[in-house]
Amino acid sequence: MFEMTSDYPNTQITGVDISPVQPTEIKLQNVNFVKANLLNGLPFENDTFDYIFQRFLFSAIPKDSWPDVMNELTRVLKPGGYLESLSMGSLISKNDSKDLPTSDDHFTNFQYLGGRRYHNESNSSYFLPNDDKECDRLHLQHFLIKSVRQGNFSAPVEDILNKEGSKVLDVGCGAGSWTFDMATNYPKSQIVGIDISPIPSSSEIKPKNITFIQTNVLNGLPFEDNSFDFIFQRFLILGIPADKWNFLINELIRVLKPGGFLELIETSPKFSPMGPYTSELMKSGREMLIKKNLNPNVAYELESLIANQEELENNKCVKYQIFYGNKADKLGQTAILNQKNIFSTTKIHMMNALQVGSEEYDVFTKNVLEELREYESTQDFNCVYASKIF
Ligand SMILES: C[S@@+](CC[C@H](N)C(=O)[O-])C[C@H]1O[C@@H](n2cnc3c(N)ncnc32)[C@H](O)[C@@H]1O
Repeated sequence: MFEMTSDYPNTQITGVDISPVQPTEIKLQNVNFVKANLLNGLPFENDTFDYIFQRFLFSAIPKDSWPDVMNELTRVLKPGGYLESLSMGSLISKNDSKDLPTSDDHFTNFQYLGGRRYHNESNSSYFLPNDDKECDRLHLQHFLIKSVRQGNFSAPVEDILNKEGSKVLDVGCGAGSWTFDMATNYPKSQIVGIDISPIPSSSEIKPKNITFIQTNVLNGLPFEDNSFDFIFQRFLILGIPADKWNFLINELIRVLKPGGFLELIETSPKFSPMGPYTSELMKSGREMLIKKNLNPNVAYELESLIANQEELENNKCVKYQIFYGNKADKLGQTAILNQKNIFSTTKIHMMNALQVGSEEYDVFTKNVLEELREYESTQDFNCVYASKIF
């Protein structure tokens, strides 16, 4: 804390502790100490701080009190402010997900920002949360995409999936929506879901033919050559740096069996036609992705990415569109709801990109949703698939 006060002399920093910690000789002008017990609530008004930092309190806070503590921290945090909660950072993974940390979380690799939970892997620029709210968003999105494309895959793999012991890989499986759906529909297949975050699934509801593995695909895939009959990867646009797509595709091909199929699906962060709010949002979003070394155009480049692979054949590209607005009836309304969820899950980052505060962002994105309805916009998502040569 003393380090922060001297590095940022224009910032007013308040330190809170249960014990008195005021060595007045070295206290700087911009620092203020308050003796308080976090478990009794914080002695501050709502929306007081722009940034709240909390480190290594896992042994001081009983497991059941963590939700209350996080609520208190969120209460005194200004809208648009940041909450950072640092744990011991051990690599033990957890098999269920909570929006708020429990003491168990303090032995996992999560980090918290603005009341949301994120992965804590340094070799990854993926910036969406991995909490319960995000799982709900991914489940809704899964059923939207499934309805639009009238199925879960495009590659001709029905026979493979119905064969006893076929091995399927779901790369960046998120909440496991596709994995669960496929495992239930194709009980003879063995399905492996991999993700950088632990997959929230209690063993009671997990079909026996699913295995989840927590791993970062940017470090290579933890499988032998020629392991899988079908490899599926959907919506990794925010997880794979622009210059890593070739590396990952090579890895996917390496672990694919000869004769097996690879299927990739990506969406475009672009709507057509676009109103003025939508154009501004999309422009800032694209710039943010480029700054983060991500490729906003990857949906349109999938075809050429697999075309250059000598080990692939039977390449096909299938183009889909999501329709927003009233013309698309129920599905259009679900698409709007999905987009609303995306605005919420990317809020912290998009506020920064648009240079707006929390309330302004909410009004801005509400205007975008109205425009999507009014302009009856569409959004592309592209699927490519190919088989590995024998
Ligand atoms: C937008 S979600 C899509 C989830 C799922 N494929 C679906 O369509 O429902 C992207 C997922 O990719 C995962 N991911 C991002 N970067 C990754 C990486 N380097 N290694 C493994 N998983 C990653 C994220 O944790 C997240 O669960």
